[in-house]
Amino acid sequence: MSRPVEFAHRERARFYEELWAFLRIPSVSAKSEHDGDTARAARWVRRQLAGAGLDAEVLPTPGHPVVVGEWRGAGPDAPTVLVYGHYDVQPPEPLELWDTPPFEPRIRDGRIYARGSADDKGQLFLHIKALEAHLATRGRLPVNVVVLAEGEEEVGSPNLVPFVKEHRERLAADTVVISDSAMFAPGLPSLLFSLRGLAYFEIHASGPRSDLHSGAYGGAVPNPANALARVIGSLHDETGRIAIAGFYDDVVTPSRETLAGIRGLPFDAEAYAREVGTVPAGGESGYSALERLWTRPSCDVNGLLSGYTGEGAKTVLPAGAMAKVSFRLVPNQSPERVKILLEEHLAKVAPAGVGFSLVELHGGRPWLATPEGPLFEAASRALERSFGSRPVLTGEGGTIPIVVELEEILGANSLLLGFALPGANMHAPNEWFATECFEKGIDTLIHLYDELAAS
Ligand code: BES
Ligand code: MN
Ligand code: MN
Repeated sequence: MSRPVEFAHRERARFYEELWAFLRIPSVSAKSEHDGDTARAARWVRRQLAGAGLDAEVLPTPGHPVVVGEWRGAGPDAPTVLVYGHYDVQPPEPLELWDTPPFEPRIRDGRIYARGSADDKGQLFLHIKALEAHLATRGRLPVNVVVLAEGEEEVGSPNLVPFVKEHRERLAADTVVISDSAMFAPGLPSLLFSLRGLAYFEIHASGPRSDLHSGAYGGAVPNPANALARVIGSLHDETGRIAIAGFYDDVVTPSRETLAGIRGLPFDAEAYAREVGTVPAGGESGYSALERLWTRPSCDVNGLLSGYTGEGAKTVLPAGAMAKVSFRLVPNQSPERVKILLEEHLAKVAPAGVGFSLVELHGGRPWLATPEGPLFEAASRALERSFGSRPVLTGEGGTIPIVVELEEILGANSLLLGFALPGANMHAPNEWFATECFEKGIDTLIHLYDELAAS
């Protein structure tokens, strides 16, 4: 066992205590009532980075602050690794569905239950501890390291692109390393070859000047809720394909190697059905579940609002209706183009007497990796050393909006290795992170620097 790994194992109890302190801070970026907590989480991350031996600073943005930590002891000729993560979390509601409170971490059955345990505080923390273990035992790292921790990922990173551009020099790096995703299965680590992008909108339908008596007016006055339902229905055809003209024009078919790789993965349809509580029958026909999730775009209603939804019946023809609709995108689709196509689609299908308008929520471009090279090899070996099996290459249906932007602005490649397990309840009640992945995750990231030094 290397000295940094020995250190990490010896200090494990303290690491858990510190993680507990981090998870107790309700750093919900979406809610202004938690602004004080997000600021506190940023200061907590800064203190941790400083404690690990980095020069660290909390830097303001028009939204939640960014924390930057730097260790440049490897010298100007050595490569630089930028570690990105986010200290903000999703709102925990509905609270009554949590078995234990979201901001009071508990271990049950080898799992750390808390909001942010997997997404992404727990995983960001792994990186800080790996850096600490190296610096505490050897006083040095084989590469320069910059840590970039943001507090707005869960609200679409609205201020991070300008921030990265402004601090381009300081953040300059050869590679970006991110742990904000999942392993393929317990005991089977993975490296990502892709992330889907996102284009997220509110569709507003408006009809009569106010709510009306549904008997006195129904049948003559167009109903925005009926109209919105038709519009939502028009987004897909019977085969599950998205029925917006031009939507697939920019979709690229993945390489044969990628497709063969996906086919070779041990996908367990029964375990998947148990995880989600229903069969994976959504999406386009003619593709496997993993192909749909990783290589095909999708369109989902995320929320619906209209009319009377309280107890009992109220006969009302609503004045308006609203749907939150998200599109997951694959290369080379862009959120901007999807917005234009959706606007054209709405203009085509909107019935007379109901007005439709779009509000843009967040967006992010899809990311495609170059899964090769020394960093990639080093990460494979590091994962194999701690988990005992070589990682598989996987895609990811979710989005991390800054990845493509970081690569473009900094001219770097990214390595995405996540330690959550399938079914970790990210964004849902009872989010958890396996203690085994927490412990092996720290070991892996410690090995990663050794493997980088060796290569
Ligand atoms: N960590 C997730 C992305 C993710 C989810 C990766 C599941 C791998 C598996 C990230 O925090 C996230 O939730 N992203 C949002 C982006 C949005 C808020 C702009 C998403 O994908 O919905
Ligand atoms: Mn995340
Ligand atoms: Mn998230």
